[in-house]
Amino acid sequence: MTAKRRVLSGMRPTGKLHLGHLVGALQNWVALQAQYDCFYCVVDWHALTTNYADTSEIVANGYDNVADWIGAGLDPGQSTFFIQSLVPEHAELYLLFQMITPIPWLERVPSYKEQIEQLNERDLSTIGFLGYPLLQAADIVVYNANFVPVGEDQVPHLELTREVVRRFSNFYPCGLVEPQAILTPTPRLPGLDNRKMSKSYNNTIDLSDTAEDVVKKVRQMYTDPKRVRADIPGTVEGNPVFIYHDAFNPNTAEVDDLKARYRAGKVGDVEVKTKLAAAINTLLDPIRARRADALKRPDDIRDILLAGSQRARAVAQETMERVRAAVKLKY
Ligand code: TRP
Repeated sequence: MTAKRRVLSGMRPTGKLHLGHLVGALQNWVALQAQYDCFYCVVDWHALTTNYADTSEIVANGYDNVADWIGAGLDPGQSTFFIQSLVPEHAELYLLFQMITPIPWLERVPSYKEQIEQLNERDLSTIGFLGYPLLQAADIVVYNANFVPVGEDQVPHLELTREVVRRFSNFYPCGLVEPQAILTPTPRLPGLDNRKMSKSYNNTIDLSDTAEDVVKKVRQMYTDPKRVRADIPGTVEGNPVFIYHDAFNPNTAEVDDLKARYRAGKVGDVEVKTKLAAAINTLLDPIRARRADALKRPDDIRDILLAGSQRARAVAQETMERVRAAVKLKY
């Protein structure tokens, strides 16, 4: 039997996970579990790049996020869950990558200027923030990962990773692997208010929300603003309520019927939204149950992460032996 190929992905422990994380990452991570040797990382140093001024929540967020991973169906018996900062080899490879990476390569990564503008209340003129995608490259390459499941927004980071691997290998050939992105098939979900989904806009449905929270949030969801009465024909295309129906309601006959009646001005928003909330709750019920169960034993979550970090570290150390030899820093 040939060894399974390796998958690596990471998530920043900056807050609660929401439906966007579920369809944009976790469902994909779960689907890859059986076929690949999967490494899933809580990238706490990446959280520091934007949240260095207040680090008090990072550890708690990490544990809470991992409870959601388990809730979503990730199995720590099958995949390796670990903490970035418990594997210092990420930092060592990152440092060596810095020696060969031209600063303009980092300045032209689209998320760099975008995030600086978006998070304009924070000072992101730091080396750490500029280096974000290079640290990500080290996360991936230190495990010889073949595949990286990510959303569309991360494609430039993967491209940078591949370029860095090629440049590094020119100077120091040591068999580093050029990883490939595995793109999540799901379209990007808007937030409840039809802006970009973001914790800071407070427009998300979180995996930890109760069934009642979901009903309340869906009731307040943005929909076709022209439709002030139920008998006015409405627009389905680009309407967040229907984007969510398409994403979360498996009963396609019901969705088609609601769309037809919506277009004809023959359905009230209450019915459309009640059915959407029910579909989301059907999806979230088993996730909430597994999450609650995991959170009953917080020490187990910690043990899983510590044991996973040891396993991860053994792989990373093996890579760094080769890298140090190639850089000719062997003593
Ligand atoms: N930048 C990724 C994001 O924001 C998180 C991340 C850090 C990551 N290191 C990684 C993703 C390594 C994949 C592989 O989603």
